[in-house]
Amino acid sequence: MKLKRYKKILVTGGAGFIGSFLVDRLIDEGYKVRILDNLEPQVHNGKKPKYLNKKAEFLKGDVRHYKDLKKAVDGIDAIFHLASAVGVGQSNYEIKKYVDVNVLGTANILDLLVNSKHQVKKIITISSMTGYGEGNYICNKDGIVRPAIRGENQLKNKDWNIYCPNCNLIVTPSSTNEAALDFPNSIYGFSKKAQQDMALMIGRLYNIPTVVLRGFNIYGPRQSLSNPYTGVTAIFISRLKNNQEAIIFEDGLQTRDFVSVHDVVSAFVFALEKDGANFQMFNIGSGEGTSIFEVAEILSKLLGKSGLIRVNNEFRKNDIRHCFADISKAKAVLGWRPKKTLEEGFEELISWSISEKAEDKFQKAQKELKKKGLA
Ligand SMILES: NC(=O)c1ccc[n+]([C@@H]2O[C@H](COP(=O)([O-])OP(=O)(O)OC[C@H]3O[C@@H](n4cnc5c(N)ncnc54)[C@H](O)[C@@H]3O)[C@@H](O)[C@H]2O)c1
Ligand SMILES: [Zn+2]
Repeated sequence: MKLKRYKKILVTGGAGFIGSFLVDRLIDEGYKVRILDNLEPQVHNGKKPKYLNKKAEFLKGDVRHYKDLKKAVDGIDAIFHLASAVGVGQSNYEIKKYVDVNVLGTANILDLLVNSKHQVKKIITISSMTGYGEGNYICNKDGIVRPAIRGENQLKNKDWNIYCPNCNLIVTPSSTNEAALDFPNSIYGFSKKAQQDMALMIGRLYNIPTVVLRGFNIYGPRQSLSNPYTGVTAIFISRLKNNQEAIIFEDGLQTRDFVSVHDVVSAFVFALEKDGANFQMFNIGSGEGTSIFEVAEILSKLLGKSGLIRVNNEFRKNDIRHCFADISKAKAVLGWRPKKTLEEGFEELISWSISEKAEDKFQKAQKELKKKGLA
């Protein structure tokens, strides 16, 4: 076995969807792992998930509490910081909670590293494509442009297009790279941007190697099927399993970049082991946009449910139209590339979901958005 530079690793949010697969992989690779997770009720119903790796040390605690973090960081060589409140729409009305968990939680970790004795030699965290807002587009006249979020009046007219900010021509989506400026469309996006920027800045200032992965739409088994606030694949599966329609906003042709959780975990391991990754941010996506309609179609076919897709021609305020990743930096520097095709990944997701309980709370989440005037 390779000599390990980092023996004991902390994974915050290690009971979650992505964190738990990361924990499994790190243990397989020979690392000792400690999890810090508060078992957020919206994700876990307050219970430890049954997939939790028994070889990991589990600390129930909250990144908002300094004393929990102090215990968690003791004896740790590297930190994967994944704990976050995760939900784009919800963050725009639960503003304080999202800032508390995502911004102050991250601030707590950084503060602790700067102001107390520790042996942490690397920090890796995960930001989100939501920080970008709309992705890059190509205008036939102006080349690459970054249009703003569409206004409510345009959406009320059911005009879903994106127009060039310079000449008003309709533009076509193009991949977005890490050099693109951030124009978050949600408090969640702002909080992830703050997390990413704070971590990189403090890392550079104190010379603690820091890496940020920027996740696009990550899907896979273990994503809570009863949390209606995040994960379009999990939300569709939950609806379809309950013989309810998968509801698609706008015309269904908006695209997102879907990447398997297993590919994300591989990127995390490269980020840990490669020094060339230090102090940098990497887009982690498939590099391709897939329409939301196509996603619903594939999932319903795999589940054997027909006639349960409804394109509602309505909109949620501040939704972006397209954003997919330029992953050339991760390929070049991390030596990473996504391996699971959408078909393979969705098949795995569906076979996992068959025996899972899925409480359909979609209507509740929709009602909340409507009450706030956001849908
Ligand atoms: N799922 C995606 O598509 C996606 C995309 C980009 C980035 N991310 C990021 O990946 C990370 C993991 O997300 P996920 O999809 O696995 O979500 P998840 O909700 O399954 O996992 C998050 C975990 O963090 C824990 N947690 C929440 N608040 C906490 C707190 N205050 N203290 C301690 N633990 C807390 C939860 O209990 C949960 O186990 C998050 O940082 C998220 O922003 C996710
Ligand atoms: Zn133009």
